Amino acid sequence: MAFKVTPWEVEGDIDYEKLIKKFGLDLIEDNILKKIKDITGDNHFMLQRKIFFAHRDLDFILKEYKKGNKFYLYTGRGPSENLHLGHLMPLKFTKYIQEKFGVKCYIQLTDDEKFLFKDKLSLEDTKKMAYENALDIIALGFNKKNTKIIIDTEYAKTLYNHAIKVAKKITFSTAKAVFGFKNSSNIGQIFYTSMQAVPAFLESEKKGKNIPCLIPHGVDQDPHFRVSRDVLPKLGYMKPASIQCKLMPGLLEGGKMSASVPKSAIFTTDSPKQVQDKIQNAFSGGKETLKEHREKGGNPDIDIPFQYLKFFFEPDNKRLKKIEEDYREGKILTGELKQITVEKINNFLEKHRKEREKAKKKLDNFLLKD
Ligand code: TYM
Repeated sequence: MAFKVTPWEVEGDIDYEKLIKKFGLDLIEDNILKKIKDITGDNHFMLQRKIFFAHRDLDFILKEYKKGNKFYLYTGRGPSENLHLGHLMPLKFTKYIQEKFGVKCYIQLTDDEKFLFKDKLSLEDTKKMAYENALDIIALGFNKKNTKIIIDTEYAKTLYNHAIKVAKKITFSTAKAVFGFKNSSNIGQIFYTSMQAVPAFLESEKKGKNIPCLIPHGVDQDPHFRVSRDVLPKLGYMKPASIQCKLMPGLLEGGKMSASVPKSAIFTTDSPKQVQDKIQNAFSGGKETLKEHREKGGNPDIDIPFQYLKFFFEPDNKRLKKIEEDYREGKILTGELKQITVEKINNFLEKHRKEREKAKKKLDNFLLKD
């Protein structure tokens, strides 16, 4: 089946093997996992399960780290809506890497991007949402000493002064080829990738020397950084490295969890009842009748609630395996699997809501402003 992956549109069921070839990514092989484990003592479950599955230059980052040359982290979010569960994946993983390696991190909130790409949103809307999203990010427990959040329009002077240097090295024909712009695309969209490139060398700029940068993100954002990797060496900076995750599937059959398709997503602001209802209606790998399910078992590979456990909500490998086997053998029913998932998500969100409240007082410690 055909699929499409761009930073602004993901359609169909992604064939990750084909995507790796198309984007020119490297697979995260076991030897890289071993190198990470040698440094940190373990591997995050998202690495073990190959949910973070691809990279660019991760081996270089690890080699430099071992020599004592620390990297910094950079990730981000386009604030069009509240965060959904999929957005939490790269953020949570970034926090884990930050802790394990003891490194600095920039998180960019692109209110400019979402204003330029979403017809219905005003700049006030996206800026307001950037502040809302910042609360969710802080609620994940990032360390305030080592983490800086950038809202593009609030740090515009600094960003713009660097972005124009990037923009000068990108032709319209490159932007068209990479992102598929048309003559009818607004010119802000065409410029935008240069804003997303800046945090990939901001730390080098601040420190006055080249510092390696590692960008954890969902695979849909890769086109931006392919362009950055082309341009930054022309400006005297290193190519940024990346580590990329698969996309959490949406609630319905096929496609990713997407904020622009609200029915596909569970948002961090959803109530326990909303989570219950959404999971209740999620696409399931269970059989039509109870009798058939008991006899033939369910299919966790296509079961959306099971996938949520695998992607995020059941970090314990043994417990996940038991649920998977029991479901395959028909020992666990669809309704039971859904209930397990609802409880896991709601437990997470209950704690998250409390941390999000506390984050309101911490916001100023995190924001970079001109
Ligand atoms: P945005 O807001 O579309 O997505 C934010 C981050 O979440 C990832 N993501 C997902 N991950 C797993 N499952 C999903 N269903 C899912 N949907 C989205 C995205 O890949 C991304 O990592 N232009 C960017 C904002 C940005 C950025 C960055 C992202 C600016 N600088 C640096 C990553 C790294 C955007 O609109 O992301």
